[in-house]
Amino acid sequence: MKPSSKRPALLRELKNYLLFLKDYGYTEIPQQMELNLGASKETSKRVLSPSTQNKPGLLQEVREELGDCTRCRLSEGRNKIVFGSGNPNADLVFVGEGPGKDEDEQGFPFVGRAGKKLTEIIEKGMGLNREQDTYICNIVKCRPPGNRDPEADEIAACKPFLLKQLQVIRPKVIVALGKPASSTLLGRNVPITKERGTWHEFEGIKLMLTFHPAYLLRFYTLENRKAVHDDMKKVLEVLGK
Ligand code: URA
Repeated sequence: MKPSSKRPALLRELKNYLLFLKDYGYTEIPQQMELNLGASKETSKRVLSPSTQNKPGLLQEVREELGDCTRCRLSEGRNKIVFGSGNPNADLVFVGEGPGKDEDEQGFPFVGRAGKKLTEIIEKGMGLNREQDTYICNIVKCRPPGNRDPEADEIAACKPFLLKQLQVIRPKVIVALGKPASSTLLGRNVPITKERGTWHEFEGIKLMLTFHPAYLLRFYTLENRKAVHDDMKKVLEVLGK
């Protein structure tokens, strides 16, 4: 490989790293990276080099910052906050919409019917292990009443935590499941039937858009199943699997 052919990937990595620093309030590039994701700098100061980041620990700090959240009205009806699950060191992150009834009861994402479909896509369709090879979270961490779509102010209240999760994990690929997740990550209204299967970028990380597994279950056609299968094949190619 010629040195110049590596340049786009290196530039993307650099841009991603600079955005990451900016998000944590840096105005200069530090020689060693000090990360403070919690409320108090004194109590959670760490000195880390980017290559030795303790991603599980940093994610735990994001979880602690979220706390027993009451930032939006979704907190009023929830049982459990559904922060995310899987491997913080995974190369692949799936982002869904929000917890349903089962997730709200158990505190873990995608454990209901749509979750079983997602697990099947990951394990049977992609040949990966859900817990080891992926991390899964949602754009909102509390169940919207009656499983309605999350509203704009609820998404806005929760988005900083999604961003921090993605910045800590910094996977090779993010898959947005359905229109709300795709629109939230791209910051625009995404017509999912038109744009699924296409590559985008989120803070320097490759982003694939696909149908939500609940949509797939509702419209269980050969065409829709093939579409998701094709989208996941593209993801596997980028992951080198
Ligand atoms: N649907 C989602 O979008 N997320 C979940 O966690 C479960 C169902």
